[in-house]
Amino acid sequence: VQIVRTIPEVRRALAAPRTSGRRIALVPTMGALHEGHLALVDGAKGGGAYVVMSVFVNPLQFAPGEDFERYPRDMEADAAMAGERGVDLIFAPETGEMYAGEPEVTVRAGRLAGDWEGRVRPGHFDGVLTVVAKLFGIVQPDVAWFGQKDLQQALLVRAMTRDLNMPVGLEIIPTVRDVDGLALSSRNRYLSSAERMRALALSGALNAVKASYDGGERDVEELEYHGHAKLLATPGIKIDYMAVVELQTFRRPALLAEAGAAIGAIRVGGTRLIDNVLLGPSTL
Ligand code: PAF
Repeated sequence: VQIVRTIPEVRRALAAPRTSGRRIALVPTMGALHEGHLALVDGAKGGGAYVVMSVFVNPLQFAPGEDFERYPRDMEADAAMAGERGVDLIFAPETGEMYAGEPEVTVRAGRLAGDWEGRVRPGHFDGVLTVVAKLFGIVQPDVAWFGQKDLQQALLVRAMTRDLNMPVGLEIIPTVRDVDGLALSSRNRYLSSAERMRALALSGALNAVKASYDGGERDVEELEYHGHAKLLATPGIKIDYMAVVELQTFRRPALLAEAGAAIGAIRVGGTRLIDNVLLGPSTL
């Protein structure tokens, strides 16, 4: 796999595949790759596209006091995994390549970002959308691949491409999980084995909500009750939120009549984990 660090190098590397008419697919990541990222690569490779992976820990999406400094970085391992899976080009810029100075213009997330991750992490989605918009400008992909694990993020990126008329198709693929149900996340590597056991309460809680939904329950308080009960029964975790929302608006209705999702965020020790399951449709 070819690794480039600068924007002109990306443009040069993409000239040949673009002229030969190959579709360009982008898989944006912050590195610390796991099977969840590699499933995005598999999807992107599927149509015979030329696959670009970005590896960039974006300072703009971390608030002071979050884990920007300690976020795992391992370029060598990432390049080996990405190369083996068939990524054609890795774009791994230094911070200065992406942000030469304080940006004058950024993307502001709208109402869809008003709650949940957006409330717990103010400014986070503005940072995400700004860097994704920049990556779209740099790579000019035909299609970009995102994971359902960061559901609110994926829906916001979709809203951005729609509202800003960006000519990029979006693919959102299901969350990849360990055999015990824990959603794969780069942050799982922060967990001790005792913490990892406790972290399972999150997928357990979301599944409890889904079981109730599949059993016919549509009252949102009732649905959420099952999730909260599971989380509250697990000592040593802190609940940021556990809720049922409509997919369209990411708002919490009284009754779930539309396609929805159970979403949750917890803290286990110093690690913050998020997860979700869809209620109703099985794809996004
Ligand atoms: O999901 C992530 O890893 C990041 O938020 C993204 C989309 C790569 C933007 O920095």
